[in-house]
Amino acid sequence: MKCRKCGEKAVINMRQHKLALCRTHYLDWIPEQTQRFIEKYQMFGKDARIIVAVSGGKDSLALWDVLHRLGYQTTGLYIGLGINGDTDYSAKSQYLSESFAVENELELILVDVAEEAGATIPEASKLTQRGKGKPCSVCGLTKRYVMNRVAQERGYDVLVTGHNLDDEVAVLFGNTITWAVGYLARQGPVLEETSDGLIRKAKPFCRFYERETAAYALLRGIEYIYAECPYAEGATSIYYKELLNQIEDGRPGMKLSFYLSFLRAKNSGLFDQESTIAKSKLVKCRTCGQPTTAPDQCAYCRTWDAVRSRRDVA
Ligand code: AMP
Ligand code: FES
Ligand code: ZN
Ligand code: ZN
Repeated sequence: MKCRKCGEKAVINMRQHKLALCRTHYLDWIPEQTQRFIEKYQMFGKDARIIVAVSGGKDSLALWDVLHRLGYQTTGLYIGLGINGDTDYSAKSQYLSESFAVENELELILVDVAEEAGATIPEASKLTQRGKGKPCSVCGLTKRYVMNRVAQERGYDVLVTGHNLDDEVAVLFGNTITWAVGYLARQGPVLEETSDGLIRKAKPFCRFYERETAAYALLRGIEYIYAECPYAEGATSIYYKELLNQIEDGRPGMKLSFYLSFLRAKNSGLFDQESTIAKSKLVKCRTCGQPTTAPDQCAYCRTWDAVRSRRDVA
């Protein structure tokens, strides 16, 4: 297989784009496409102060690398969840995020959940009813909260995450088979900021297949954590990803066309009514001041207050 641009040996063949590229042209193609998506979905401009949520995985570190190469002003944010297990998951992912920041002379903000909230994610999950014993629910709630609070308190214009097409399509599939129209109305490459305190969020990699971001990270020599979170095993999202991979095998390009058709349908107003309902008025949490739809305390404060009081009783 030869590179379409120069005829040298190709390192990647993207059947869905009918495009094969050599190393040099692939390492140019990813930033060019990223810039195209940033403009197409009006994610942010060249002067924006960007905070990149990095997990130590291939997608978020590759994204940070690409934005830095494109000349954007970026700061990283790593949230220490205290998930260790056999693979030393959190410790390793923190180390890799810190190493990337040091090598590229970039600033990285570290927030340690145990230090900040009084327990690690696995400890908290045992002490709360949330998520039926699985840590993913309290973990997701905590990550979303910390990302918004840090970005807002420090005055960033936009928070970006490394979600790729496979992530987005798995979520889209889940929301479609349950017809979760409220979630569908909010899904997309950009979530606008709100005047009541939700920061703007963007996913510049939402149109790249997972194998494309993995190939980029490998070819750039970015060291990232290969292990998945130990609690991801058996997750519904992984099951959906496997199903979608089977369809993609027989129909290359299916994932991308599913996602793009959804965005077109959304753009043409299919979910407008739901979007209006989803924009329900937010109020300030009485404890932390962060925006919430709950009348009194936000879900983060309620959950973590309960964790701390149960921990003190135990
Ligand atoms: P996940 O929900 O693990 O698939 O991660 C999706 C995105 O969320 C990643 O690409 C990161 O941008 C961000 N993220 C996940 N875990 C963390 C973390 N511990 N700290 C900061 N950002 C994270
Ligand atoms: Fe949060 Fe797995 S439970 S990353
Ligand atoms: Zn080439
Ligand atoms: Zn709160």
